[in-house]
Amino acid sequence: MICKIVYFFISMCFLLFSLGCDKDRDLEDYGDLSSSPEGIIISGASEHKGGYKRRDCLVCHNVANNVHRSESSVVDADEIVRLTLLNGGSAYCMSCHGDNGVEP
Ligand code: HEC
Ligand code: HEC
Repeated sequence: MICKIVYFFISMCFLLFSLGCDKDRDLEDYGDLSSSPEGIIISGASEHKGGYKRRDCLVCHNVANNVHRSESSVVDADEIVRLTLLNGGSAYCMSCHGDNGVEP
């Protein structure tokens, strides 16, 4: 009996492990950003309900895995990750996406 329970437990671990590996990345995709009036610049709270007026982009956006990798992406995601690490983290995001309403 104990043996069966242990066997069951071990197989559940393998099952969960393999499910974990199959999981897709949680890609961020908001369609074609260039279709909004100011393009990729965040132009107000309505365009950025989740994070307007915040400077800590990396808290919410998992750039290493999920950003700049959608079907409509035109930029080199890995190059942006590299440059972000070299250029002050979230501050570098603002060089393309604007100040996000953050007061200097
Ligand atoms: C508190 C979490 C949070 C923070 C901090 C945050 N964001 Fe966001 N961001 C979101 C969420 C949620 C969305 C998707 C929904 C939306 O557009 O409101 C989003 C959407 C976006 C979009 C797509 C907007 C569009 O036009 O559809 C861009 C670009 C973006 N964020 C960049 C940034 C940058 C750059 C920073 C830092 C200056 C930042 N975010 C900080 C949560 C956050
Ligand atoms: C070199 C300019 C550039 C930099 C730097 C940059 N982005 Fe972007 N970003 C873009 C462009 C262009 C798009 C439009 C879609 C695309 O190409 O991925 C975009 C799209 C996005 C989106 C919408 C979802 C998506 O994946 O398309 C989010 C969220 C976002 N950027 C967050 C960030 C964050 C956070 C940083 C800082 C680590 C950052 N960006 C740095 C140019 C940039």
